[in-house]
Amino acid sequence: MRSPLVAGNWKMNLTSAEGEALVTEILHLAGENFKIDVVICPSFLAIPKIADVCRRSRIKLGAQNCFWVDKGAFTGQVSPTQLAEFHVDYCIVGHSETRGKFGKLEIPESTVGLFSESDETINLKLKALFYQGVTPILCVGETLAEREAGQTDSVIEAQLRGALVGIEPAEMYGLVVAYEPVWAIGTGQVCDAAEAERVCGMIRGCLGQIADDETSENIRILYGGSVKSDNAAELFRMPNIDGGLVGGASMVAKDFYQIIVAAE
Ligand code: 13P
Repeated sequence: MRSPLVAGNWKMNLTSAEGEALVTEILHLAGENFKIDVVICPSFLAIPKIADVCRRSRIKLGAQNCFWVDKGAFTGQVSPTQLAEFHVDYCIVGHSETRGKFGKLEIPESTVGLFSESDETINLKLKALFYQGVTPILCVGETLAEREAGQTDSVIEAQLRGALVGIEPAEMYGLVVAYEPVWAIGTGQVCDAAEAERVCGMIRGCLGQIADDETSENIRILYGGSVKSDNAAELFRMPNIDGGLVGGASMVAKDFYQIIVAAE
């Protein structure tokens, strides 16, 4: 039986102090009694402060990215070992924004390639995180152009296969996958619940082929992309959607709390 999970991805928002105030407010609303797994993914710089707040609660801590090597001459990178020092339990990998695909482009088109991750680097990151005991939240999803070209399923299948090369089912067992259609991220244009369920079911089927049925039944699949307090319940009611990866609405205490309640 998969337990629901709701993760808040703050992206490049909030200072440590603002983050601390937000988590304190969420805990105040929830009375610290979550029946599900709740994860907060602050910026790297806010992790120490939020780790302190989370340690006194049931909220788990996540990072938004990492490098795959333990240490060395990799300027500007953060390793899974460094995340583990702050008791980071989860790490987002392969978010469309780190793959270099933005739902709502606010940066010069010519700089997009600078962010891009490949399936190979995502695969290396997953292996490094599993080795360190940090649970990856692997993001997959199609752009609008790919959807309109009828390539949604094939794009996602290729992303899954590329990310999971050489990873044993036993390791994959605890994986979390997030289906995030790029066109739904930050746009207010949520994916229709029936279609999100269809894609998440397809993802589960694909994981069954890559690993095995028992493993795929254990893997939690989240939906992400304009999840709000008023659409969360309909999405989370779907059998293959085990929770949400929430951006904007995770930074408003009341909204995030209502999304948690919807998942419960
Ligand atoms: P929004 O909820 O702001 O659309 O962001 C979704 C997302 O990218 C979470 O990782």
